[in-house]
Amino acid sequence: MNRKSLFLTLLTAGMLIAGNLFITGCVKEGPAGKDGLNGADGADGADGLDGTATCMTCHSPDGIELAATQYELSKHMYGEAAFEEAGSTTCGPCHLSEAFKYVCLNNTPSTFTLNSSTNKYVNDYFVAPTAAYGEITCGTCHSSIHTTYGEGDLALTTVAPVDMTMWAGAKTINLTADGGRSNLCVKCHQPRPFTASAADGNVLDYVGLATNPTATFYNPDGTGNKLRPGYRTHTHYGTAGAVFAGIGGVEFGGLAYENSAHTALASCQDCHMATMQGKAGGHTFFAKGNFNGCNSDGCHTEASATSDGLWVNPRAEIKSLLDDLAAALTINGVEILNRNPDAEHNLWAANTTNKYDGYLNIYDPINNPDGPTNNPTVFQNPSPSNSWSQAQKDYNLTLPKVTLTNAQMGAIINFQLCLRDYSLGIHNYKYTKALLTNSINVLGSKGV
Ligand code: HEC
Ligand code: HEC
Ligand code: HEC
Ligand code: HEC
Ligand code: HEC
Repeated sequence: MNRKSLFLTLLTAGMLIAGNLFITGCVKEGPAGKDGLNGADGADGADGLDGTATCMTCHSPDGIELAATQYELSKHMYGEAAFEEAGSTTCGPCHLSEAFKYVCLNNTPSTFTLNSSTNKYVNDYFVAPTAAYGEITCGTCHSSIHTTYGEGDLALTTVAPVDMTMWAGAKTINLTADGGRSNLCVKCHQPRPFTASAADGNVLDYVGLATNPTATFYNPDGTGNKLRPGYRTHTHYGTAGAVFAGIGGVEFGGLAYENSAHTALASCQDCHMATMQGKAGGHTFFAKGNFNGCNSDGCHTEASATSDGLWVNPRAEIKSLLDDLAAALTINGVEILNRNPDAEHNLWAANTTNKYDGYLNIYDPINNPDGPTNNPTVFQNPSPSNSWSQAQKDYNLTLPKVTLTNAQMGAIINFQLCLRDYSLGIHNYKYTKALLTNSINVLGSKGV
C-alpha cells in the first residue's frame, strides 16, 4: 500500500469510528456487552513526509541559496543575449531556457534539409515560436525541479551525446567523463554552422577545404562562390566545446590531430564549477583565475598563474601561433583579420598581440569604417547594403577586393575557433597546436 492510500484508509477508519461514537451517543443505549480480546497490534505505518524537510534538502543556506548567490556572477544570468534573442526560433536552442528544454525534450535534429521551392538547405535545429523565450536559469539545466520535491529533481536536463549543428549532425560530441555532464554545456557551447549562404545554404565542406587547399574559395569576379565574405563572416562564439572535444576544425595535413588528457579525463564542471575563488567557480561557471579545479581530484598539485609548464608556457605558445597565423592571413600587405583593441567588446583582446576579435577586415560603415588604426587599409565589401549612403558606396568601391583560397578560408575558420575558445590551449593544447601550426604551414607553402 502506498503512503497516500494508507493515509486514506486510516482517515476513513477514523471517520467511521468517530461516526459510530456520535451515532451511539444519540440512540438509546442497550446493555453493555462483554469486552472482547485485544487484537494484535497492527504493523507500523510508513513514515509520512516531514513537512518542509524535503524542501530543506535544497532550500538550505548551503544548497540552492548558495548556488543562487553564485549564479548572480554567471554570465548566463547577467548576459543580455537571452533578452535580445527572445522570440528567435533559431537562436533560441542555445540562448533561451524554454527553447533549450524544447530541443532536449523533442530530440530536435541538427540536420539540414533541402527546401525544394527555394532550393536552399535549412537547418532543422529550431524550435516552435511558442517556446522561443526564457532567461537561462536554474530550471534550464535542472529541468525537473519541483516535479517530485525530492533531491533527484536536481538531475541535469541532458547528459546525452550532442549531434553537432555545425556538421549538420554528421559528427557527435560525447564527453564521457563524470557521467557525461559536459554534454550539457556542449549542447549550447558548440559553434553554429558555417553555411554556403551565397549558394545552396548547406554547411561548408571542411574536409573539402582541407584536402584541396590551393583551389579558389572566393573570387569576387568569378561565379560559383559559396559565400560572400563580410565583416561578420565568422564562427559563432561557442567554440570551447568543439575545441575541447577535438572536433570542429579544418584539419589541414601536418601535425597529427590528437587530444590532450583533459578531453577524456576532465569535465567542463571540474574547472568551471570548482570551489569558489574570487569571482570564479561554483555556479558562476567561470574558470578565470581559479586553479582549485586543476589542483583537486589528484589531477595537478601546483597549478597556478605562475606555473611555467602548466600555464605560462603553453598559453604563450598558443598566443604566438595565433599571432603568426594572423600575420600569414594578409593579401598584398592588407590584413584579412580585424583588430579591435576595445577589451569591453572584444572578449579575446588579450589573446593576440594585435588584439584581433575574429571578425574580418572588410568595410562596414558602422563596425569597420577605416580598418585597423595602425594599418588603415580595409577590404572592399562585396555586398554593399541598400542602407548605405552614396558616399559610403563610392568609398567602398575604391578599396581593394578580397580573394580567398580554400587554405585561407580554412585558416580563418581555425583562427576564429582557437581565438574564441578563450583558453589559449588549456582546453585542448594538442588539438589547438595542430590546427594553428598546420594552418600556418598550408598558407606558407601553397595557400597564397
Ligand atoms: C531539488 C531541489 C528542490 C527541492 C527538493 C525543493 N525546491 Fe523549491 N526551488 C528549487 C529551486 C532550484 C528554486 C529556484 C530558486 C531560484 O530561482 O533562486 C526553487 C524555488 C522555490 C520557490 C520560489 C518560487 C519559484 O518557483 O521560484 C518556492 C516557493 C519553493 N521553491 C518551494 C519549495 C517547497 C515548498 C519545497 C518542498 C515541498 C521545495 N521548494 C523543494 C529547488 C528545490
Ligand atoms: C542553455 C544553453 C547553455 C548551457 C546549457 C550552458 N551554457 Fe554557458 N553560456 C550560454 C550562453 C548563451 C552564454 C552567453 C550568455 C550571454 O552573453 O548572454 C553562456 C556563457 C557562459 C560563460 C561565460 C562566457 C564569457 O563570455 O565570458 C561560461 C564560462 C559558460 N557559459 C560556461 C558554461 C558551462 C561550464 C556550462 C555547463 C555546466 C554551460 N555554460 C552550460 C549558454 C549555455
Ligand atoms: C549552437 C548554439 C548557439 C546558437 C544557435 C546561437 N548562439 Fe549565440 N552564443 C552561443 C554561446 C554558447 C555564446 C557564448 C559563448 C562564449 O562566450 O563562449 C553565444 C554568444 C552570443 C552573443 C554574445 C554575447 C556576449 O557575451 O557578448 C550574441 C550577441 C549572440 N550569441 C547572438 C546570437 C544570435 C543572434 C543567434 C541566432 C542568429 C545565436 N546567437 C545563435 C551559442 C549559440
Ligand atoms: C548552466 C547549467 C546550470 C544552471 C543554470 C544551474 N545549475 Fe545547478 N548545477 C549544474 C551542474 C552541472 C551541477 C553539478 C551536478 C552534477 O555534477 O551532477 C549543478 C549542481 C547544483 C546543486 C548541487 C550542489 C552543487 O552546488 O553542486 C545545486 C543545489 C544546484 N545546482 C542549484 C542550482 C540553482 C539554485 C540554480 C539557479 C540559481 C542552478 N543550480 C543553476 C548546472 C546548472
Ligand atoms: C582543464 C580545465 C578546463 C576544462 C576541463 C574546461 N575549461 Fe573552459 N576554460 C578553462 C580556462 C583556464 C579558461 C580561460 C580562463 C582565463 O581566461 O583565464 C577557460 C575559458 C572558458 C570560457 C570563457 C570564459 C572563462 O571562464 O574565462 C568558456 C565559455 C569555457 N571555458 C567553456 C568550457 C566548456 C564548455 C568546457 C567543457 C566542454 C570547458 N570550458 C572545459 C579551463 C577549463
